[in-house]
Amino acid sequence: MNTYDENIRFKESSEKPVDVVKILKETKPDILINYLPVGSQKATEYYAKSCLEAGVSLINAIPVFICSEDKFIKKFEEKGLVCVGDDIKAQLGATIVHRYLINLFEKRGIKLNKTYQLNTGGNTDFLNMLERKRLDSKKISKTSAVQSQLKKPLNEMNIHIGPSDFVPWQKDNKVCFIRMEGELFGGVPMNLDLRLSVEDSPNSAGVMIDAIRCTKLAVDNNLKGYLKEISAFGFKHPKIQYTDDKAFQLVKQFIAENET
Ligand SMILES: NC(=O)c1ccc[n+]([C@@H]2O[C@H](COP(=O)([O-])OP(=O)(O)OC[C@H]3O[C@@H](n4cnc5c(N)ncnc54)[C@H](O)[C@@H]3O)[C@@H](O)[C@H]2O)c1
Repeated sequence: MNTYDENIRFKESSEKPVDVVKILKETKPDILINYLPVGSQKATEYYAKSCLEAGVSLINAIPVFICSEDKFIKKFEEKGLVCVGDDIKAQLGATIVHRYLINLFEKRGIKLNKTYQLNTGGNTDFLNMLERKRLDSKKISKTSAVQSQLKKPLNEMNIHIGPSDFVPWQKDNKVCFIRMEGELFGGVPMNLDLRLSVEDSPNSAGVMIDAIRCTKLAVDNNLKGYLKEISAFGFKHPKIQYTDDKAFQLVKQFIAENET
């Protein structure tokens, strides 16, 4: 990535690293939100462990699997803390649109044979994703978010979902292309092509606010461990997947039960 212009890529900081646990203990936040660059496996584990040590609940917005993993969930539970995640779904992004279309196909009895979701953008997230080894979890997260909506998952050769390229002049504009090929009644072939264009950076902000509110409700009600409702509604890789309609109902129920 160092071959890219300094104005578009990250530079190594010359500042001394801070003692995260010490700062968390001093400032006592209710929640830590992780929005580190894609593929930050070690750094995310470091911040999750810092949360456990300092007694802070965690919302993990990125595709590194922490809050959907039993190993970490158990640790948060044991410490009386809450964890929510992983990998935030945008308010109206590629994942939520693809999932609703899959559900539409299921409900209308259309047999889906093949699908792809190609994404291009020009921000640092897309630049980072040129480094393919950063992408493993991102691909798993985005693909499972869609596969989980099918009664019978597609053979992996017939589904391709992922970030596709970095186009510098697109800057923060993310463009997604979805294609779905299927069969209507009587085996009649059909296909659908969709192009979605959004401003990437602010697209998860509203969903994050929902996640913060639900997590704060849980913290105030002394709940602990994994919050299945908001994780399923707002994240691509929750421990338990539901349809988005079901997850919405579960979140409403969770709020009604915990609001004072
Ligand atoms: N925008 C969305 O809607 C959306 C949706 C799903 C997931 N995400 C994920 O959220 C993450 C952030 O996305 P972005 O577009 O803001 O990425 P970004 O690369 O622009 O921002 C990452 C930030 O992390 C900071 N950072 C890097 N190393 C750090 C460290 N060790 N400690 C503390 N901070 C550090 C950087 O300075 C930068 O501000 C990515 O992993 C992305 O995949 C974003």
